[in-house]
Amino acid sequence: MTAFARNQWYVAAYSHEVSRELLGRTILGEPLVFYRTEEDGTPVVLHDRCVHRRYPLSEAPTRLDGDKIVCGYHGFTYDTTGTCVYVPGQKRVPRTARVASYPVVEQDSLIWVWIGDAALADPQTIPRAKHLDSPGWTTVRGMEPIDADYGLLVDNLLDLSHETYLHGGYIGTPEVAETPITTEVDEGAGIVRVSRHMDDAECPPFYAKSTGITGRINRWQDIEYHAPCLYLLHSRVAPVGVLPEADGSDPGGFHTEVTYCITPSGDGKVYDFWAVSRDWATEDDEVTEFLAGNNRTVVMQDVTALNLLQKTLGTERHGYQELSINIDTGGLAARRILARLVEEGDKPMEKVH
Ligand code: FES
Ligand SMILES: [Fe+2]
Repeated sequence: MTAFARNQWYVAAYSHEVSRELLGRTILGEPLVFYRTEEDGTPVVLHDRCVHRRYPLSEAPTRLDGDKIVCGYHGFTYDTTGTCVYVPGQKRVPRTARVASYPVVEQDSLIWVWIGDAALADPQTIPRAKHLDSPGWTTVRGMEPIDADYGLLVDNLLDLSHETYLHGGYIGTPEVAETPITTEVDEGAGIVRVSRHMDDAECPPFYAKSTGITGRINRWQDIEYHAPCLYLLHSRVAPVGVLPEADGSDPGGFHTEVTYCITPSGDGKVYDFWAVSRDWATEDDEVTEFLAGNNRTVVMQDVTALNLLQKTLGTERHGYQELSINIDTGGLAARRILARLVEEGDKPMEKVH
């Protein structure tokens, strides 16, 4: 099982999921409850267990009273810092009556939380995904919980050759698996980059149907994984003939930013946040609907495969051997970085933006 790097930022929810309704979610094994303040909508994150008899604060009939949260079992009431301000049947509130609160940052339509040592939480180290919340971009998104070690999802996303097999007929074509990759690792910043540039390739249905391209394409897949949580795939497809400028500048074509947030929920459980953002046909609802449905199907193909893989690995004898080849270079680099983040006492990443 891949250990958790605790002193890191993780995406716990999309902005639109956190509201005046209580939301429960488990991050790195910590049960959390989310809501927004009445006054200015600031997100609040508290431990999701009442200090009295451990009733989950995210569950009805627990409710909000202004910005305070009132436990649905016997009425212990907490403020936004987790301090208990009311208990039933007595005036004196015990000094130890409090639940933990967690650093939270809302940025790029994502709710980031910090589970580890709050003194180390620096919002400046959170990697950006501006396309998720910028004019000129349209995004479809979703989240699927997977019953698998989060390391299996990291492996999956860093090696896109699986598109040809697992996602054939959707985003995979023979060229993806056939084209060699280049991998770059920035150990200091904890970033792995994996690139695959395909010339004169078949256009997969995902892009043919959404862009209207009918012939063959040049296709660029440039992965940028900011360990541990944020994965960006800069994807670009263009009809054959539209090539990068000599200086490597923007070749035009259709830009799509595919974002994943990989958030361990508990041992053998991970939240798979996925989003597809485009800067083309941004107002076309048919394209939006097609990409939302098609990408969800693709995500579910991965979910099914990883659920199965986790079950299978669970029946393997201890110490089984894997066999790695060139396509695994990015995934292996990611594993090394994750292991270092865990080992080094979870030092936060240096600022990368
Ligand atoms: S369990 Fe919350 S008040 Fe008793
Ligand atoms: Fe996949």
